Amino acid sequence: MNILVTGANGQLGNEIRIVAKNSCDTYIYTDVLEAEGVETTLLDITSMEAVRNMVQENDVKCIINCAAYTNVDKAETDEALCELLNAKAVGNLAIAMKEVDGLLVHISTDYVFGGDPYNTPCQEDQKGTPTGVYGKTKLHGEQNILAAGCKHVIIRTAWLYSEFGKNFVKTMLNLTATKPQLKVVFDQVGTPTYAYDLAVAIYKIVNERKYEENNGVYHYSNEGVCSWYDFTKMIAEYAGNTGCDIQPCHSDEFPSPVKRPAYSVLDKTKIKQTFGISVPYWTTSLKVCLERMNVKL
Ligand SMILES: NC(=O)c1ccc[n+]([C@@H]2O[C@H](COP(=O)([O-])OP(=O)(O)OC[C@H]3O[C@@H](n4cnc5c(N)ncnc54)[C@H](OP(=O)(O)O)[C@@H]3O)[C@@H](O)[C@H]2O)c1
Repeated sequence: MNILVTGANGQLGNEIRIVAKNSCDTYIYTDVLEAEGVETTLLDITSMEAVRNMVQENDVKCIINCAAYTNVDKAETDEALCELLNAKAVGNLAIAMKEVDGLLVHISTDYVFGGDPYNTPCQEDQKGTPTGVYGKTKLHGEQNILAAGCKHVIIRTAWLYSEFGKNFVKTMLNLTATKPQLKVVFDQVGTPTYAYDLAVAIYKIVNERKYEENNGVYHYSNEGVCSWYDFTKMIAEYAGNTGCDIQPCHSDEFPSPVKRPAYSVLDKTKIKQTFGISVPYWTTSLKVCLERMNVKL
């Protein structure tokens, strides 16, 4: 089967490049821009014509969509572009897959939740209540897939990090190494996700072809629950950055253009039971990622 990966130069896309290296399927890695050191076919998913041509010329039967507008704060003042990429373009991919009876694996987010107070892990069928433009446009993307009616596996994930790109782990590695003191919010609770683990789960779903009878929305993050403060403490501890005094603080000490979910832990029971996926605990995966980044533990 020919599989198109969009946004292949981002965090998740790069992890899929690693995980799918020895696949019997043919993976075509695309992104809107080229990147150093990796082969990339150019594809802007906001163009329906470009998407359709790419699918037809390469006999694509599956798209793994890793492309997105992911800058949550900037999205608040850039709604049109955010909607174009996170919703309209996702619809393009879904229509293209519907036309060839193909599968769309799409990545969504815990930010579709957050508007209501929760204190138990979010279920797949729970009503989306996004608090900002990013979450709202990602929810529209999910809705556009359902409207197109293609085969689909939508995976909502959260707090993604990897050795590629910019992310919280890299920022905190740097800050805890260079600052004597740091305040980090403890009133936002969720679960980190190592993008490599998510890539392994996606690869298993596609590879084992169990999606035909299991279309739907799924949740995936690592196991466990923590606040951004706990996450930072663990990053610093593993990296041996003992010189930084890390203190918990409230979100209102860091004014932000967007209100982030206070509790967005994802319930992963469905993906584990349906596809037989085992999910690593968050600190175990954090350690693996730091080792791959050559951080001395
Ligand atoms: N990051 C998180 O914490 C997080 C949390 C929950 C869910 N997610 C979701 O997980 C998925 C993967 O996230 P990620 O962190 O791997 O994203 P990422 O690193 O930001 O990668 C996204 C990729 O999409 C590319 N792209 C931008 N515009 C495009 C276009 N018009 N056509 C094709 N590609 C385009 C980007 O290129 P440029 O860099 O050149 O713009 C980038 O290479 C996304 O759906 C995201 O919403 C992420």
